[in-house]
Amino acid sequence: MRVKKISHIAVAGNDAEQTRVLYEDILGLNFSGSEPVESEGVTTHFFEVGQSSIEMLEPLNADTPVGKFLEKRGPGIHHMALEVEGLDAYVQKLKTAGIVLLSEEPKIGAHDMRIIFIHPKSTGGVLIELCEKSHPG
Ligand code: CO
Repeated sequence: MRVKKISHIAVAGNDAEQTRVLYEDILGLNFSGSEPVESEGVTTHFFEVGQSSIEMLEPLNADTPVGKFLEKRGPGIHHMALEVEGLDAYVQKLKTAGIVLLSEEPKIGAHDMRIIFIHPKSTGGVLIELCEKSHPG
């Protein structure tokens, strides 16, 4: 049970092409692909930064969590994700500590990772995702 690294920093926005131009064409990051994640109502676009990445979240429509986030707060940083080993043990530990989670159990996110979110009210205002590879190795 340990935190391995920052998996990604996620930014929410509506203009994937503008984001791609900035991160890929101008900053020179490697664009590693786009993937719809129906469970979260987004398309994710990943740009590699060393062992971590920047994940751009584009809502599938306005009536999704990220669509509502954009309507309320505009584009910007949405969450940070920590890759862990022992996600289920972390979920138990968080629940025992009274930390508020956005779901009871982990879901499947982008890249087939198991993910769960910690509510910002339990973290000092930061939406934190914990993620773990579904198939270690
Ligand atoms: Co994420």
